[in-house]
Amino acid sequence: MSQQFDVVVIGGGPGGYVAAIRAAQLGFNTACVDAYKNPEGQPSLGGTCLNVGCIPSKALLQSSENFHAVQHDFAKHGITVDNAQIDVGTMIKRKSDIISKNANGIGFLFKKNKVANIHGLGALKGRQGEKWVIEVTDNGAVVDTLEATHVIVATGSSPRPLPGVTVDNVKVLDNEGALALSEVPKRLGVIGAGVIGLEMGSVWKRLGAEVTLLEAAPTFLGAADQQIAKEAFKTLTKDTGLDIQMGVKIGAITVGDEITVAYEKDGANQTLTVDKLIVSIGRVPNTAGLGAEAVGLQLDERGFVVVDDHCHANLPNVWAIGDVVRGPMLAHKASEEGVAVAERIAGQKPHVDFNTVPWVIYTSPEIAWVGKTEEQLKAEGVEYKKGTSSFVANGRALGLGHAQGTVKILADAKTDRILGLHMIGPMVSELVSEGVVAMEFKASSEDIGRIIHAHPSLSEVVHEAALAADKRALHG
Ligand code: FAD
Ligand code: NAI
Repeated sequence: MSQQFDVVVIGGGPGGYVAAIRAAQLGFNTACVDAYKNPEGQPSLGGTCLNVGCIPSKALLQSSENFHAVQHDFAKHGITVDNAQIDVGTMIKRKSDIISKNANGIGFLFKKNKVANIHGLGALKGRQGEKWVIEVTDNGAVVDTLEATHVIVATGSSPRPLPGVTVDNVKVLDNEGALALSEVPKRLGVIGAGVIGLEMGSVWKRLGAEVTLLEAAPTFLGAADQQIAKEAFKTLTKDTGLDIQMGVKIGAITVGDEITVAYEKDGANQTLTVDKLIVSIGRVPNTAGLGAEAVGLQLDERGFVVVDDHCHANLPNVWAIGDVVRGPMLAHKASEEGVAVAERIAGQKPHVDFNTVPWVIYTSPEIAWVGKTEEQLKAEGVEYKKGTSSFVANGRALGLGHAQGTVKILADAKTDRILGLHMIGPMVSELVSEGVVAMEFKASSEDIGRIIHAHPSLSEVVHEAALAADKRALHG
């Protein structure tokens, strides 16, 4: 006999688990089916983000930043630490403890909200009257059959493979392996200087590895505002010490005791020899094994589930959210879609504003933005004005020892409405929220310029950039 539900969510990442909690809060009898098992073979909720993505990468970024600070920054404060050592095992254990704590927290929230927590791989099997039938398997054996009025597909994404290269997570690593190295490699190669490449490259560089990134695109961080991207390139190569090679064409990769990567740059053949190689060239949606073809769930040519603006798929009462659908592959975007779908099932009219999804790259300094870049505004023929300000003389940044970076505000030339906020600097992951709020409330740059910002604080640089947009900067 099948278990009966109003809503079954397939996937327990930040899209799926949030959708399940919200659906349960709205009174639906809800189950969440998730297939992930941690390296100990135990089910662990939270998806890519919690287990092998956002959270572990930020844990390692913090550990490595601390190690770097002890070695390079503490002396400036008059603090001397001789012979600082890094114990990679302890660092990795700390990361794993953070994951367990949060994964158990999701389990607790499921119990509290009465979400049925079902471990296994969920596949759509077809219709039984008005209900969808979902079969759950574990290690190939059927462990459960569920029936649900609504199905929310939140199966996430996996690393995009590089043809001809096998990821073994011993020598050739994807995000999972890059987050679990047992020692600092002497030479680390990274294919793809995107978000993962820069974050993971930074971690292992700060711990002592020589890091070379090989990037196919000629433009660094093509999605970012290019003024900020250029400053980021300079800082990450000169200060962090990452060797970033742009515009390369990867050739043969040979894996032995060492790994050799043949590549072509500016018409010349080159070879990179490393001890470990991270492949981070984007991600692909997880739809294999979901039963999409059998039930006629429409996928696009790249494998994403096709959905409308409300995340509804082409089948009745089938929804899809997060990395498995169009749009940025970001945890907060997945969660917002999860909430919106649950509320829409409940007959509400939620709205996800894709124009104000913030982006953050957690390098040092951090890079963050929301809204349009200057390049996008130019391409769209929008007349705009801009204001920039620097962290160089900001009192709080100086006190922190991170007085470096820029904030740029872009506003409509006529209405002054804020169209974009772009930054590189200390803790800009936190500052970007001011831009999100401002844009959601359709604020002008003058509004930000007239709002009191605490002194001394990093947010004063946002304030000053807004004043600069109005040609009345006080410290510029
Ligand atoms: P996922 O988190 O991928 O979860 C999907 C879940 O569904 C997984 O547990 C999977 O095992 C399970 N599943 C798949 N198929 C089935 C099935 N048939 N049945 C049952 N279960 C199934 N984003 C940010 O916003 N900020 C960051 O700092 C950030 N850092 C990142 C760092 C790294 C190294 C990586 C790889 C990603 C990072 N991301 C970050 C991206 C973020 O992890 C994803 O955007 C987010 O996890 C997507 O959420 P999701 O719920 O759509 O899918
Ligand atoms: P990415 O799309 O950010 O970067 C991939 C890079 O690889 C691109 O610059 C691309 O040009 C390059 N590339 C593609 N094919 C190549 C090839 N054959 N040779 C050399 N370079 C090649 O993808 P990444 O870094 O894998 O991360 C996946 C996604 O995960 C991100 O796009 C982001 O959505 C999410 N993420 C978010 C983070 C955050 O929010 N801080 C952190 C890490 C990941």
